[in-house]
Amino acid sequence: MRELVDPFGRRIEYLRLSVTDRCDFRCFYCIPKGFKDFTPPDTWLSFDEIERVVRLFSELGVSKVRLTGGEPLVRKNLPELASRIGALPGIQDLSLSTNASRLAKHADSLKRAGVGRINVSLDSLDADRFKEITHGDLDKVIEGLMVAKRAGLDPIKINMVVMRGINDHEIGEMVDFCLQNDFTLRFIETMPMGDTGRRATDLYVGLDTVRRRLEEQFELETAVMPGGGPASYVRVKGTSLRIGFITPMSQHFCERCNRVRLSVEGTLFLCLGQTDRMELRPMLRSGMDDEALKAQIMAAIDRKPERHEFNEKPEQVVRIMSLTGG
Ligand code: GTP
Ligand code: 5AD
Ligand code: SF4
Repeated sequence: MRELVDPFGRRIEYLRLSVTDRCDFRCFYCIPKGFKDFTPPDTWLSFDEIERVVRLFSELGVSKVRLTGGEPLVRKNLPELASRIGALPGIQDLSLSTNASRLAKHADSLKRAGVGRINVSLDSLDADRFKEITHGDLDKVIEGLMVAKRAGLDPIKINMVVMRGINDHEIGEMVDFCLQNDFTLRFIETMPMGDTGRRATDLYVGLDTVRRRLEEQFELETAVMPGGGPASYVRVKGTSLRIGFITPMSQHFCERCNRVRLSVEGTLFLCLGQTDRMELRPMLRSGMDDEALKAQIMAAIDRKPERHEFNEKPEQVVRIMSLTGG
């Protein structure tokens, strides 16, 4: 089997697939208010095109695929795409990152389609504050989470972007909520993605502070968790609760990077925090054969940057998170 190994010896085995840049929420740190610059539908890769690209990646050793957005469930017939990807022989781990607003409706069909596990963005358990942050409806999200749990999606990880004065006082409640519901809790540091993300870094909370606060209350032991992402985990001693820390700013994890991202328009982004890319759509639409496409993918991986420069060059990434898929 061929493998994708970048110039820094990192094996690329995880593809993050953004199936839409649209979202039914408007988290203030992500999509700007009144944003109109969404991608036009004729540029979206079709399910046939997506399936083909994922098959090529799987033939190059990629075994994990995560469906992302924007909000992936905004893309029509997502469970159909999931089952086509899940049926590819090389794909062993198919997961979804979602805001859960539409999860109650789709959790069962996603599970049947082969989605094993999900990660859900949830920054607040207070309905008013949740609305201020996301413009969304907390009840729908909680309902989505409960239906997903009953559908057998497991593990369910909660992603909380920690922001000073916005939700950092809710950490204790979030711990209780995840303990009660058997969810895994992950804290994320704000990143300067686009103007919205950059403004949110004014509210930055380094997760070492969060960890110290938790240590005053609980005994934490090092833990592991299924998944292939950058979180480092602890377990709250005496419980089944695992807590993950995603620290792109205070302690980057780029030396362990195993992923690239494909946008809805067929742009292959080689790093979340850099602009290096390869446009696959024109190649797909020009009738290029599988071998030539695979050679292009390998050439792109040869250009994967060593790491992001969010700290050194916070102005660099102008694209918003919903276009790249987190
Ligand atoms: P698993 O570990 O497989 O469950 O997935 P994950 O944690 O990688 O997926 P998820 O979509 O939940 O990602 C959570 C957050 O981690 C993202 O929204 C980003 O904030 C951050 N993240 C994920 N991958 C990267 C990366 O390559 N670079 C950086 N800087 N941040 C990342
Ligand atoms: N910094 C950190 N995390 C972000 N997300 C979106 N924008 C940012 C940002 N600027 C997170 C969301 C979600 C995932 C898709 O990305 O909260 O968990
Ligand atoms: Fe949508 Fe995710 Fe951005 Fe929130 S963070 S607006 S859920 S894409």
